[in-house]
Amino acid sequence: MLKFTTGRGLRLLLAAGICLGTLASVGAVSRTDGTASPMEAVVQQAEQKSPIQTEAELKAAEARQKRAPALLASRGLNREQKDALTARMGEDAFLFQLLEQGSLTRADLLWLTLPNSRSDRLERYRAWSAEHPKLTAEDVVLQVNMDQDQDFYSLIWEVADPSALDVLVNKHYILPAGYVPQLEVLGGKYGAGSLRPEAAQAFRAMADSARKDGISLRSVSAYRSYRQQTNTYNRYLKQNSQATVDTFSARPGHSEHQTGLALDINVASSRAHFEDTPAFAWLKEHCAEYGFILRYDLGQDSITGYRFEPWHYRYVGQEAAKTIMEQGITYEEYLALRPTWGQQVIIKEETPAASPLSISGSLK
Ligand code: DAL
Ligand code: ZN
Repeated sequence: MLKFTTGRGLRLLLAAGICLGTLASVGAVSRTDGTASPMEAVVQQAEQKSPIQTEAELKAAEARQKRAPALLASRGLNREQKDALTARMGEDAFLFQLLEQGSLTRADLLWLTLPNSRSDRLERYRAWSAEHPKLTAEDVVLQVNMDQDQDFYSLIWEVADPSALDVLVNKHYILPAGYVPQLEVLGGKYGAGSLRPEAAQAFRAMADSARKDGISLRSVSAYRSYRQQTNTYNRYLKQNSQATVDTFSARPGHSEHQTGLALDINVASSRAHFEDTPAFAWLKEHCAEYGFILRYDLGQDSITGYRFEPWHYRYVGQEAAKTIMEQGITYEEYLALRPTWGQQVIIKEETPAASPLSISGSLK
């Protein structure tokens, strides 16, 4: 919730209201039953941030926003789309330059109206859409954001901040080999290994709560170093083809276990049929309350790259976990739906500096 009481604040808030209101309506695919779609849920949850901008930057943004509507005219866009793009052009000088040069196609503009679109991926949206002409704009953006236009392990980025709580580690994102998080031993009755302190505390709380319901939850594998993962992966390779190993074991640097935020609970083998146990049913119902998600659910292997691992849980914090578990989406989808723009507020309208007002707005 934002609250401003100054004249300038009001100007900023007006911009945010217009911009974020547009995001929710343009980007969302609403459900008819009144519940939030994954896109709406993630957009609603996004934090509204107002980074400090200099007066000069604000003036430049304002100038871009004034020029944008004329440049967007006659492009077959509706009012909402034009408003969204105008706001975005204010925020992004590079995009505005492309618009001025006439380098943005109509399809580019449609992708750019979506709050989760990434201006640095326009070329990839174009290529993916050319390959799959029947996809909606939402799906093109979602799939490319999830790197589904790239084969697993074909295009790999090193994560920018390995210690970020929302770090994404999968077959496209790798941790630095030397990355070792701060760790805390789980301790006796909680099973083997260590996790990052926030995840360790959350796991203990979850296990304590489960115990009261007659359910035992114990870690069988938590943090694993790059070297341990190398040994594990190589051991599997001795008995299976790489294609098979890749369906259940991460290559070194690509395992969430190296983040110190993931653990295997009670078992770590499909032969155990953990999915048929009361412990699994309890976890599915309650893990999000403690900030954990079931990371590799059934039928999600085309996105996650792994077959069903009912025992593998990742700590992401309660807010994200609740959205992900309620919506039944993968962590990849959650992150790919997250707005990449519209968080910054920019000037849309001048307001008299006198008469301080208090206005509050939320991303609804
Ligand atoms: N079994 C999971 C995918 C890992 O190796 O991290
Ligand atoms: Zn695991």
